[in-house]
Amino acid sequence: MKIGVDYYPEQWDRDLWIKDADLMKKTGVRLVRMAEFAWCRLEPREGEFDFSWLDEAVRMFADRSIGVVLCTPTSCPPLWFYEKYPDAVMTERDGQRTRTGIRGHRCINHPAVRRCCRRIIEEMAAHYAGNPAVAAWQIDNELEAYFCFCDHCAERFRNWVKSRYGTLEAVNRAYGNVVWSGEYSSWEQVRLPYGHYPSAWLNPAFMLDHSRFASDSVIDFVRWQADIIRDRCPGIPVTTNVWFSEHMPDLYREFEGLDFISYDNYPSAHPAEDEAGFSHAFQLDMMRGVKRRSFWVMEQLSGGLGCWAPMGRMPEPGLIRGYALQAFAHGADTVLHFRWRTANIGAEMHWHGLLDHSNVPGRRFYEFADLCETAEALGEARETFVRAEAAVLLSFDNEYAFKIQPQTEGYSYLEQPRKLHRALTGLGMNVDVISSGEDLSGYRIVCAPEMYIADNKAAKRLHSFAREGGTVILTVRSGVKDIHNNAVMAPLPTVYRDMVGAYVSEYDPIGRDTVGVRFADGTLFSAGQWCDILETEGAETLAVYDGEYFRGRAAVIRSRYGKGTVYYIGTVGEQALYDRVVSEAVKGAGAACIPGIPSSVEVTIRSGNGKKFYFVFNLSSRETACRITGRQVSLAPYEMKILKVVEKEEAAVRPNI
Ligand code: GLA
Ligand code: ZN
Repeated sequence: MKIGVDYYPEQWDRDLWIKDADLMKKTGVRLVRMAEFAWCRLEPREGEFDFSWLDEAVRMFADRSIGVVLCTPTSCPPLWFYEKYPDAVMTERDGQRTRTGIRGHRCINHPAVRRCCRRIIEEMAAHYAGNPAVAAWQIDNELEAYFCFCDHCAERFRNWVKSRYGTLEAVNRAYGNVVWSGEYSSWEQVRLPYGHYPSAWLNPAFMLDHSRFASDSVIDFVRWQADIIRDRCPGIPVTTNVWFSEHMPDLYREFEGLDFISYDNYPSAHPAEDEAGFSHAFQLDMMRGVKRRSFWVMEQLSGGLGCWAPMGRMPEPGLIRGYALQAFAHGADTVLHFRWRTANIGAEMHWHGLLDHSNVPGRRFYEFADLCETAEALGEARETFVRAEAAVLLSFDNEYAFKIQPQTEGYSYLEQPRKLHRALTGLGMNVDVISSGEDLSGYRIVCAPEMYIADNKAAKRLHSFAREGGTVILTVRSGVKDIHNNAVMAPLPTVYRDMVGAYVSEYDPIGRDTVGVRFADGTLFSAGQWCDILETEGAETLAVYDGEYFRGRAAVIRSRYGKGTVYYIGTVGEQALYDRVVSEAVKGAGAACIPGIPSSVEVTIRSGNGKKFYFVFNLSSRETACRITGRQVSLAPYEMKILKVVEKEEAAVRPNI
């Protein structure tokens, strides 16, 4: 694993640069990311370029065997740009233009933005072509599928709809525009969703397409930049850094055209007992799942966070090292810390880096130095990868559709995938979080929560996976909508009914109310949000509701389908309910796991060349101990230990549940 840092030479006096670079080299930093916000220094006046300062920085790092990641600075055009093209900013729903003064104001669909971005990217990429210090390119910074309401976006959306449907009749049918007399009689009537209405008041079919369009705009922008970079500076891998935002582009499609995915990883600095580490593992597994390959962390937690919000806690001792190794355990091969030093100027001066404002190395810095040493010493672990027998499926169509129409008070799409993921990782299993469209071969157990928007490919794959002996876990809100986000006229879960061996005779969106769910052995769990009342057609009832007018009716069921097994969870339960169902499913599927690890301990396995490395991470402030493949492992608070096991040895001690 390579460790690096994010660095902003443009924000520091030159005499600090060399001191920084020397300390980086001494500490073991291998990569430095630069320039994502430096457009005003790279092109101070339109068409006048100055790469001299960046050259100096690149050279300085190269002289110390430190590689660089260069970024296209397109998230922050300089003020001369906005002066000349005042309408190239993003526009709000009500037509108000975004005011400059923060960052990321530009509309990525605006022709002037495209023209000026092309020029700076071409100049920069050509300037650094053939420079051996350049390890990778980062496009822009944390691009989100924002909704811009400018006229250029409106025009592009209209063309997007036109090319998708061809005729107005087809659009009207797909959107169900007859409702409330919304039928288009000319293409000009295809407009953006202006106005401050809650999205749920607007046509859901139209809104889903609008979200898809916003995502496609980012994908187009990214591919367009990648082409320019590759044309001028061939042979260097290209990525963009993503974060877990409100408006995520469809990462599965976005990264088809890029060389690797990179992620900005800010796990909790002060994790609540037993909780936060696992939720971040979900994100890491999701990033590895995007290209089903190793990924980078382009920004990694280094200190207390605070800028838009008041300052938060500093990372507990152990977490700087532990979280970076956790990222590696989950498939990252490079981790860059954000940032080398906390800014002394600008709005982010309270978002802490490895060094504090004082520039005096402290506890966090020394822990980082220790991490750099550990990373260098990982040796053969680098030749390994994360292999999983379990997968959790995700879809961005579902993410958008649930945001457009929240199902109940408090319902969130990702809650069930996260809980299923947590249940699997709680058993010490590796889990792939992958696109619902992926090939499922090689897995023993696949969790397919909330398969809401029709995805024929996914439905077909799940059927044949189960038929051939796989174990599938399905949940509420499956088979509900067609591809346009319109309701399907058939009993739920429609296309999954045969697999599930039951249908939903009635449902009740109970929201924040709760109801008990009782298993045959008497164990009782609490559930909320949604209750499917199931009528079995061959499935076996595992648990029934313990209250409400549907007391005694089936809530969790299991059926045999072909050679496989299909579970259906008809409600949204507390974590323990998923733990229960998943452990039964894992047992039935014969998947390898490590039962009995304490709930605060995360175990992730990298394997290859006959060797296995167990990454054992204590995500609590208490000392703890556990048994891993026959060995007793004791862990200090927030300690990460790496255990090497030769696979032959392990066969003898592989535990069964
Ligand atoms: C994001 C951005 C960074 C910085 C950090 C901290 O991750 O990519 O530029 O703004 O947040 O605020
Ligand atoms: Zn726009």
